[in-house]
Amino acid sequence: MTLEEKLSFVHWSYHTSDESAKVYLPGVPRLGIPEMRATDGPAGITIHRPSLALPAPVALASTFDDGLARSYGAVIGREGRAFGQDVVFAPMVNSIRVPYAGRNFETFSEDPLVTSRMAAAEIKGIQSQGLIAATKHYAANNQEKNRFSVNVNVDEQTLRERELPGFESAVAAGTGSVMCAYNKVNGQPACGSDELLNKVLKEQWKFRGWVTSDWLATQSTDALTKGLDQELGIELDHEPAPGEPIPGGKFFGDPLKTAIREGRIPESALDEAVTRIVSQMARFRLLDEDPPARPARDLAGGLKVARQVAEDGAVLLRNEGATLPLTTETAADIAVIGPTAKVPKVTGLGSSYIVPDGASAPLDTIRERAGAGSTVRYSTGEETVGVPVPQSAPLPRPRPSGEVFPAGGGGVLYDGTITVPVTGSYRIAARAQGGNAYVELDGQEPFGRRPWVYGDVSSRPMRLAAGTHKLRITGAALAKSPMTFELTWVTPQAAQEAIDRAVSIARTARTAVVFAYDDGSEDGDRTSLSLPGRQDDLISAVAAVNPRTVVVLNTGSSLTMPWLRKTAAVLTMWYPGQAGAEATTALLFGDADPGGRLTQTFPADEGQTPFAGDARRYPGVDDQLDYSEGIYSGYRWYEQQGVQPLFSFGHGLCYTSFDYRDLKVTATADGGLDVCFTLRNTGTRTGKEVPQVYVGPSPHVRVAQAKRALAAYGKVELRPGESRRLTLHVERRALQNWDSGAHTWVTGPGRQVMVGPSLGRLPLSATAP
Ligand code: BGC
Repeated sequence: MTLEEKLSFVHWSYHTSDESAKVYLPGVPRLGIPEMRATDGPAGITIHRPSLALPAPVALASTFDDGLARSYGAVIGREGRAFGQDVVFAPMVNSIRVPYAGRNFETFSEDPLVTSRMAAAEIKGIQSQGLIAATKHYAANNQEKNRFSVNVNVDEQTLRERELPGFESAVAAGTGSVMCAYNKVNGQPACGSDELLNKVLKEQWKFRGWVTSDWLATQSTDALTKGLDQELGIELDHEPAPGEPIPGGKFFGDPLKTAIREGRIPESALDEAVTRIVSQMARFRLLDEDPPARPARDLAGGLKVARQVAEDGAVLLRNEGATLPLTTETAADIAVIGPTAKVPKVTGLGSSYIVPDGASAPLDTIRERAGAGSTVRYSTGEETVGVPVPQSAPLPRPRPSGEVFPAGGGGVLYDGTITVPVTGSYRIAARAQGGNAYVELDGQEPFGRRPWVYGDVSSRPMRLAAGTHKLRITGAALAKSPMTFELTWVTPQAAQEAIDRAVSIARTARTAVVFAYDDGSEDGDRTSLSLPGRQDDLISAVAAVNPRTVVVLNTGSSLTMPWLRKTAAVLTMWYPGQAGAEATTALLFGDADPGGRLTQTFPADEGQTPFAGDARRYPGVDDQLDYSEGIYSGYRWYEQQGVQPLFSFGHGLCYTSFDYRDLKVTATADGGLDVCFTLRNTGTRTGKEVPQVYVGPSPHVRVAQAKRALAAYGKVELRPGESRRLTLHVERRALQNWDSGAHTWVTGPGRQVMVGPSLGRLPLSATAP
C-alpha cells in the first residue's frame, strides 16, 4: 500500500449522499479491499431511517440472561448487516457509577460481573452475524458532565475492579474493535494513553483488534504510537451539501502524513494500525472474493426478541396485596394516566436514539387487552407541550408552508423577552422539525436538540420567577428540508389543571395506572433523581384518591420515589423499545411474568449516594474528578456505609415465590467454586427467578474488599411446585482482588458464600474452602 492508501484506514470519512452510513472507510479497490461502513448502536442500529428499536441496554442487563443478550446482539448484527453496515459502535460497557449520569440507560450495571457477562454475550451475538462490534467507551467515561475535558483520578485497584472488567471480557469475547473515550484518565487522554491502550489492552489482554476514538476524541497525532489506531470525528464548518464527501483526519490525515515523512512518527506504527484494521476485515470475511451475502431484515424475529427482553428485563419493584397482575374485576374500570401511555417512550436520547419502525401506545394495547366489557379512560396528567409562549415580539412569521428557515438556512429565530405571570414550575417545549433549534433563557446553558438524535420535541421543566426573562432562540434547517419551529410552555396553572383532571378520572376508577417517564440522554446528566416536572405530585395526588395505583416507569436509571408507600405497585419498564406497549400490557395482565432484577441500587434519597456533598467525586472540580469512593461504588457503597437503600441491587418481584435450601459449596479445579442449592417454586404460577451468589471478604487478602460482591448468578424458570437442584459456578476472578502494589490479582480463600434472590435477601450461607 502507498502511504496515502494506508492513511485512508486510520481515519473515518463521512458522506452525505448515503443515508445508510454514519461514517465509512474507502478501502483500496486496487487491492480488492472494499469500503467499510459504521454506525451507532447499542439499542439497535441508528440510521437516518426507521429501524428496529430494542429495549435500552439497561433493560437487557436486568434480564440477567446471557442467552437473551446473545439474541439481542444477533438482532443488532443482522439489522446492521441488512442496512449495509460492517461495524457498530456498541456495546457500551462503562460501569454505572453516578446515578445522575445521562447514559446509564445505555450501559449495563454498577456490577462488573453483570457487565462482563452481558458484554461478552451481546458481542458474540452481534459478531455471529458478521457485524464487527466496537465496544465503548474505554475507559472511565461514567458521566456526561464535562465528558470532553474531565480528568479522572482513579487508583489502580478501583480501575481494575470496577471499570475495566467489562472491557477485558469484551476482548476475551473477541470484540473486533474498541472505542476509546473522551475523558482523560490519570492525566492522559483515554485516546492517547500508552498505559491503557498499549500496555493493558494490547499487551496484557492480548487484544488483536483495533482501537478507534470516540467522535472528535483524538487529541494528537502521536496518539498513534500510544495505541490509538484510528480517528473518528469530522469537524463540519458548514452544513454539507447533499452528496458532498467529507474526509476526516484532523490528526490522522495530513498531519500524520507529514509526521511520518519527517520521521517524527515511525511508519511501522501506521503499518501496525492498518494491519489491525485489515486483519479484522479479513476475520469477518470482508476481503473474501465472495464475501458473505447481506441478509434481509428480519423484523418479525427482531420484534420477538425485543418483546422478550422488554418482559424479562421489566422489574416489578413493589406489589402490595398482589395488585398485579390485574384481574377481570380490577381491570373492569381503569384510569390510564401519563404522557408515555399515549405517546410511547421507546428509546433513550443521544447517539443511540432510534426512530422505530413503529410502536403501539400502551393506552391502545391496554384497551384492547381489557376488552369491550371494561372501561378504560385516559388523562395526560403531566402536560408536556402546552400553549405558545407569549413573547415580547412574535417569532418570525411562518412562511405559508409553516417553515421558519428554508433548506440549509439558519440564524437567529428570536431575540427578545417573555413575561412570566406567576412564580412557579414551568415546562418549556421546543419543537423543531427539519432542523435544530437551541433555546437560551436568561443566558443559561441553551437547551434544544438535533432532532435526528433527540426526537422532535425537547421540553425542559424549570422554575421561573414572575417578571421578564430574556429569551434567545437560534436554529438551522437541514440541507434537505425546510425547518419548522414551535415554542410552547406549560404554566403552573395548566400543570395543576392536568393533575386535577387525572385525579378526577382516578377517583372513580377501580385501578389507576400512571405512566411516568424521564429523558435519559447522552450529552447531559440529570440534575436530580426525582421524576422531572410535576410527576411526583401527580403520582401522590392519584394515589391519594385511588388505593390501587400502579406506577409504570419509563425511566433510564435509579430514581427517588417520595410517593412509593402510597402506591400499590411499581413496575419499571425502562425504555422498552418498540414492542414496549405489548410487553407492558402482558405484564400488567399477567400474560407474562416480570423477569427483571435491578442491576443498580436505587437510593432512598440523594443524600445517601457516594456523591452527596462531594463535588470532587461528582461532577468534579476544575475538570478534576476523583474516584475517591474507591472500590465502594454502587451497592458496595451502601453496604460499606451501612445504609438501607430504597431498593437493593438484584431486587425484583415476580408473580410467584421461590424457596432456597440445602447449600453446598465445593472448590473446583479451575480455582473457582461450585455453589449448589435447591430452588423451589412455592407459588401458584410459573415464574422466573434470578438466583444470586455473593461472596464476602477473604481474611487472607490485605487490600480493600467489599462486604459482599456478586460472584455468580443464573436465570431459571420453574413451574408451580417444581424444584430443581442448581449449580452456579463462581469463576476464580470473582474470588480475587487487584493488589495495586504488586500490580496483579490476588486470590483470597475462606470467603463467606451467600445465596438468595437479591442482595437484600440472602437466606443461605456457608464458608468457602
Ligand atoms: C458518542 C459515541 C458514539 C459517537 C458516534 C459520540 O458522541 O459518545 O457513543 O458512538 O458519538 O456517534
